[in-house]
Amino acid sequence: MPDYRIAWLPGDGIGVEVSDAARLVLDAAGFKAEYLHGDIGWEFWCKEGDALPQRTLDLLGETDCAFFGAITSKPGPEAARELAPELQGKGLSYRSPIVRMRQLLDLYICLRPCRAFRGNPLNYRENIDLVVFRENTEGMYIGVEFPAVPEKFQEVPAMKRIPADAAISIRSVTREASRRIVEAAFEYAVKHGRRKVTAVHKANVLRATCGVFLEAAGEVAARYPQIRFETANIDAMGMWLLKNPLNYDVIVTTNLFGDILSDLCAQLVGGLGFGYSGNIGSRYAVFEPTHGSAPKYAGQNKVNPLAAILAAKMMVEWLGDVETARRIDQAVADTIERGAAKTYDMGGNAGTMDMARSVAEAFQFAHQTR
Ligand code: IPM
Ligand code: MG
Repeated sequence: MPDYRIAWLPGDGIGVEVSDAARLVLDAAGFKAEYLHGDIGWEFWCKEGDALPQRTLDLLGETDCAFFGAITSKPGPEAARELAPELQGKGLSYRSPIVRMRQLLDLYICLRPCRAFRGNPLNYRENIDLVVFRENTEGMYIGVEFPAVPEKFQEVPAMKRIPADAAISIRSVTREASRRIVEAAFEYAVKHGRRKVTAVHKANVLRATCGVFLEAAGEVAARYPQIRFETANIDAMGMWLLKNPLNYDVIVTTNLFGDILSDLCAQLVGGLGFGYSGNIGSRYAVFEPTHGSAPKYAGQNKVNPLAAILAAKMMVEWLGDVETARRIDQAVADTIERGAAKTYDMGGNAGTMDMARSVAEAFQFAHQTR
């Protein structure tokens, strides 16, 4: 009997091939699980009007966690045009399935480690080792938006100077969501021997929402006197991360700032081919490479699967098989350091599956040299 039940959601575009690559490595590592395929992606939006069908949500309810590849999403008007004729004009609107999973399952932590593997030709600097904790359920992602100012809003004094035809997106930040994401960042720091947590905000302008976040962060930080605590403005942080990436350690921030900063941090350690995420709640989690579906590369066996392989490693660790996770991590590190395979982004011509096979061979290598 396999130890774990995993919802397997490759999605579309390159999501499919990087998921295959991750599976190859999981199997080679001897990780035993039952993988249950779930439908998700653009195809299901077009055919069924829902990119994340209810049967897939049910599957999440029956599994220990999920692995997600990537899916294509397109802007509103295009999404509406691609719907099956019988679904058109019914007022269906597209919402990103990954954002929906995060919110529906209360996966409040988006954990994005960014580490410069030794020997990676794409490292911006050596020894970078950052971990981004992105709040994953609220902020600018609540999906409360209006194409023009609703009439009721026009009665609010502060809205009087806003033209009636202005589009509005609402940002909500709660004390509780702020508290728990900052607490997760500090707990991680303690568990992994990290020295500093930096809370990133824009409280000089977004006084209400970032004010709540900062206040909660300060309260949590006071409970962890052994960990250094700093705050930084989001704009300055973009600059400082480029100037002095080694000064940072654990970074915690609200949803959209975390989205932006985590791409920046991924680029410091090789780009999106190396960026991976855990969307983690108190009972369930969804692991994914941070990159999108890159339709122009789909089916070419070309893209770098390391982000997906590292996401799988994080999944194995979260499930509790710490030793297998450590072996996968070591195999990835060895493969990069020896230059055993390099995909096109790394200046080589190894394909997606060549890279996965090299990582799998590194288990062997580690065995022999031990
Ligand atoms: C990410 C992605 C998503 C996000 C998109 C696909 C909705 O950019 O996971 O960082 O904005 O959260
Ligand atoms: Mg993003």
